Amino acid sequence: MALSIRPIDPARPEFAGEVSDIDIARGASAADAAAIDAGMDRYAVLVFHDQQITDAQQYAFSQNFGPMEKATGDIAARGERRLSMDINDISNLDQAGKVLARDDRRRLFNLGNRLWHSDSSFKPTPAKYSLLSARVIPKAEGDTEFADMRAAWDALDPAMQRECRELVCEHSQLFSRGLLGFDDFTEEQRRQWRPVPQRLVRRHPKTGRLSLFLSSHAGVIRGWPVPEARAFLRDLTEHATQRQFVYAHRWRPFDLVMWDNRVVMHRGRRFDETQMRDMHRTTVADSSPTLDQPGA
Ligand SMILES: [Fe+2]
Repeated sequence: MALSIRPIDPARPEFAGEVSDIDIARGASAADAAAIDAGMDRYAVLVFHDQQITDAQQYAFSQNFGPMEKATGDIAARGERRLSMDINDISNLDQAGKVLARDDRRRLFNLGNRLWHSDSSFKPTPAKYSLLSARVIPKAEGDTEFADMRAAWDALDPAMQRECRELVCEHSQLFSRGLLGFDDFTEEQRRQWRPVPQRLVRRHPKTGRLSLFLSSHAGVIRGWPVPEARAFLRDLTEHATQRQFVYAHRWRPFDLVMWDNRVVMHRGRRFDETQMRDMHRTTVADSSPTLDQPGA
């Protein structure tokens, strides 16, 4: 049976779709992968319910969509890692599977996920797709919200669009964590996560649609004084994350949600952190740095 995709909210037929009739554990046919790719171009966020998968199955499925990233954005040292370097650990757990202490450095770093961001925008070549699999979720709360940066661009007034078009930002995890007052980085991490340039306005390679490439990792606009740049980025983010641009995903166990970081920002919402939350993310890399791609 061929898979099908329908909009989650019929009133918003171009953002967030739900996919039926695929069992990811069994893999995707070439036709399935093509249909999902086309669905991503249209919806930017796709939800797959009831997918009980292993890391290997999730990784194999993700590979249909491009070259894979390693989890080099995580703060856990190699000896502290719970999962392989193929999987970003989006959990509140230590290697023994125990909930991290409130003041654990890894937990404080991970709180950066509460800020609106685009995955790996701090890497020279950022992420294309993220695929997040819910293995264990808290009883309530902990939604993930997605904001449509294409619609946010379309809704900007023409003068703002003109001002944004040619701008280049610099992104770093040091900036996003700095917003929360976290600066407990090693010298090696400061080197590894030094700022990288990204276009502020991107053009989708297939649909040609423009979108804002915002992220809490952005802390500099090249050629601008820093406070002016940060005030500007804050205004833009406020505009771009208004509720009419947002889909809030309420997790069910074994949901897999896939999104296009080129055109979507997301954030994790608060939950009771005495409860376990175990999510595994695979990440498909984009094809090149954004400055090597078309802009506005
Ligand atoms: Fe993220």
